[in-house]
Amino acid sequence: MERLGTLEVKNLNKKYRSQNDDLLVLDDINLTVQPGEFISIIGSSGCGKTTFLRLVVGLEKGYEGEILLDGQRLNGPSLKRGVVFQDHRLLPWLSIEKNVGMGLKNPKSGESRKTIQEHLELVGLKGFEKHYPHQLSGGMSQRAAIARALVNRPEILLLDEPLGALDALTRMYMHQELERIWMKEDITMIMITHDVDEAIVLSDKIVVMSSRPGTIKKIIPVPLARPRDRAGYDFANIKEEVLAEFQLHTDHPFTYSI
Ligand SMILES: Nc1ncnc2c1ncn2[C@@H]1O[C@H](COP(=O)(O)OP(=O)(O)OP(=O)(O)O)[C@@H](O)[C@H]1O
Ligand SMILES: [Mg+2]
Repeated sequence: MERLGTLEVKNLNKKYRSQNDDLLVLDDINLTVQPGEFISIIGSSGCGKTTFLRLVVGLEKGYEGEILLDGQRLNGPSLKRGVVFQDHRLLPWLSIEKNVGMGLKNPKSGESRKTIQEHLELVGLKGFEKHYPHQLSGGMSQRAAIARALVNRPEILLLDEPLGALDALTRMYMHQELERIWMKEDITMIMITHDVDEAIVLSDKIVVMSSRPGTIKKIIPVPLARPRDRAGYDFANIKEEVLAEFQLHTDHPFTYSI
């Protein structure tokens, strides 16, 4: 049986209306994402990454072209697509288990309680059910946001700079965690990031965007075995290929963020 969850974006244009004329934000975007793939989108600030993600989630309407999930045109938000933003957006007055259960139809049912518990375990938050968001660290809050996005078992999880607010070490730890969750859930993930290393560590393909208007400049495959060796020769080669798209080079020892 063919697996569900193929996302096809065809000739996508998105304009925003400004006072005098239209601002073309996305220009002729074409992208196919296979079920179970991990895709990163990288590009300079303002190139339309969040706009693209909002269109795929169904939060943004009014576009030209087609966004198809298994051949069907998207029609508004759906439980088939979960989303995680840069800030966790947990509700401060609800416990972690209630935050995670928010998206469920009947969060008090036995079945829902089981699902919430399973997802808290999946993201490593077992034991923190009754805690409130202010009692969690940044990394733990993002884990809770990931659990909340996964609790409805979406086919696609969209992540908009999900680790952007975390310190470098927590971030590297979260890379392992995200990879583990992606493998266990066998789900499609589309992640926006400004961190080239993060994109190479996690992705099957890196979509490089250019700006004004936002277009896909290049799609770079990452055919490296997992878990990936950040210090490896092949890793460095792919990094060079990504950075070249931004006229940057790897002769400096620090991590690049675009
Ligand atoms: N609702 C809106 N109305 C008008 N213009 C908008 C709207 N949302 C975004 N834009 C414009 O669209 C362009 C792309 O914005 P978007 O948020 O998608 O960029 P981005 O690539 O996510 O940037 P960043 O990396 O800074 O998050 C920007 O020029 C922005 O000003
Ligand atoms: Mg953005």
